[in-house]
Amino acid sequence: ALRRYSSISTCPTTSTAALAFDMDGVLIRGGRAIPSAHRALQKLKGDNPLNREIPFIILTNSGGESEASKAHKLTQKLGIEIHPSQIVLSHSPMRHLAPQYKNKLVHVVGPDECKNVAQSYGFSDVVTSKEMKAFDKSMWPYRSVGDEVDDTQCPYDLSQTPISATLIFHDPIDWGLDIQLITDTLASQSGLITTRQPSRPYSQSTPLYSSNADFQWSNEWPWPRYGQGAFVTALNAVWKRLSGNPLVIEKQFGKPSSPTYEFAEKMLSAAAGVEVKKVYMVGDNPDSDIAGANLHGWVGILVKSGVYRDGMPLTKKNKPQVIVQDVGEAVDWVLRQEG
Ligand code: G3P
Ligand code: MG
Repeated sequence: ALRRYSSISTCPTTSTAALAFDMDGVLIRGGRAIPSAHRALQKLKGDNPLNREIPFIILTNSGGESEASKAHKLTQKLGIEIHPSQIVLSHSPMRHLAPQYKNKLVHVVGPDECKNVAQSYGFSDVVTSKEMKAFDKSMWPYRSVGDEVDDTQCPYDLSQTPISATLIFHDPIDWGLDIQLITDTLASQSGLITTRQPSRPYSQSTPLYSSNADFQWSNEWPWPRYGQGAFVTALNAVWKRLSGNPLVIEKQFGKPSSPTYEFAEKMLSAAAGVEVKKVYMVGDNPDSDIAGANLHGWVGILVKSGVYRDGMPLTKKNKPQVIVQDVGEAVDWVLRQEG
């Protein structure tokens, strides 16, 4: 990772400080670059009064595609070359789960592309909600637009092959279908969805993993949109009523969780080529970006171009070191600290 990063750099880094940028609401909003983002990243590539490069990564709770695909899109939008090794998506650290599910079937929840991403992480047997629905149409007796031309087949005999884990890879599209299928799996006997535990309260038959806990996130709409955290809230309500037990997440990934920040620290040190001693996190979501930064000893910089608005209450947990207008001001603030 170090060599690949260096090959795209304009001048070498001696920095033991580094930056992690949130994406939605900091670099991008509604599919477009935030106006000051290009210049801010250019400064980190060496065009700054310190005359040295400061390594950075993009640490986002977004996903549903590969790191390479996200890097390509961001390079186009930001006009700055972003390498896949600079991208940490919500599901990136989930690659570490792949060895324990070798030759076991896992249900990956999220847009279709998540199946390819999971396979690229080393998950050998993956089934999507769309494929599960195709196993037997009576499992989900409701129709969506496009179903009549959809020829998806289920590659597994789900009456014989148990589901060993459910991984919410990215924000689900069809909440109703996904809640039905996930609770079917959890209430089954050992993950065989054609079975059900003999009596309530049901325990969770297989582990459930979530890639991000964001209740809301910011796009071009004036008010934040529901994210995976909102989906899990709905799932929990349905599961509690069905099973008599609260929902248990085996491991939570994504900001502000530890597995994600630890994964990001390794990526940053690899990018810098030295152990990074100080990390600045530029984020728009106090509960996600800043809470995680505070928990992991990073310096939190909150911008006003996304979820956070002036006057929103902040607690000790999610209070940043500084609040600035946007990513341009954030980078200038970092350069002053490092000067
Ligand atoms: O689904 C994406 C969203 O939850 C947040 O993305 O870049 O603000 O962490 P980001
Ligand atoms: Mg954000």
